[in-house]
Amino acid sequence: MDGSDRVLYESRDGIARLTINRPEKLNALDRLTMRQIDRAVAAAGEDAGTGVLILTGMGAKAFVAGADIGELASHTPVEGAAFARRGQDVLNRLERLGKPSIAAINGYALGGGLELAMACTLRLAADTAKLGQPEVTLGIIPGYGGTQRLSRIVGPGRALEILLTGEPIDAREAHRIGLVNRVVPAAELAASAEALARTLLARGPVALRFVLQAVHEGLQMGLVEGLSTEATLFGLSCATEDMREGTRAFLEKRKPSFKAR
Ligand code: COA
Repeated sequence: MDGSDRVLYESRDGIARLTINRPEKLNALDRLTMRQIDRAVAAAGEDAGTGVLILTGMGAKAFVAGADIGELASHTPVEGAAFARRGQDVLNRLERLGKPSIAAINGYALGGGLELAMACTLRLAADTAKLGQPEVTLGIIPGYGGTQRLSRIVGPGRALEILLTGEPIDAREAHRIGLVNRVVPAAELAASAEALARTLLARGPVALRFVLQAVHEGLQMGLVEGLSTEATLFGLSCATEDMREGTRAFLEKRKPSFKAR
């Protein structure tokens, strides 16, 4: 990959694992890393055998400690806007993958790192993790969706405190405010992410896709339109082989075997 493996990617038994691999810079997101993340996410999307994507950072210290400050320090306004747009596009593609993604936050998730985690469907944090949007300490604001996703996930009051102080919060506090779904001992993070991925893999894949679509599209709509979208997708789910199999398996008191059709 471009002569340097900033991202390690493998897909096995239905689970794709994407590891950001720049530990000497706390996995900071430079242009090359973002390009490789984008490519790996696309590969996970295209692979019909992949049902869930897990993202994590290499090493014990950081998930991702932000966008690469060295790169962004020299941006002109035009370059800065393009940089933000490019990053947002990558994270939007991750968010709209149509399959669940899990951020296994193994340490610092700061700036672009937290923004990357927030573009994932679910977030698990090691008890040692620290999360924050420290951009204001550099005289800038988040550019990869931090002002938008954080306030949607935890509400504007809590988001504004994190965004305006720039101070990181620990995993426990992140869990308390709903920023992460679960906190686990650091040594158990990988296994917990794997177990959660297995749970999701046992569900109807088309149903998962429709849930993701209903929630993401619904968040852009009023309640009336959102409910209408839900009803339409519910109707569509009734036309799937997975629906026949899921309901039949329940009635026959056995586990369903979904085919993603
Ligand atoms: N961009 C570029 N390089 C980064 C980086 C980033 N966002 N975060 C860490 N690094 C680099 C450091 O410059 C250092 O490189 P060096 O060894 O060549 O000097 C290396 O990663 C290790 O980081 P260091 O700061 O020495 O580790 P630490 O344990 O003392 O501190 C942090 C850890 C996370 C508190 C600190 O690295 C930090 O504040 N990083 C920036 C966080 C940030 O503001 N992110 C938002 C960017 S928009």
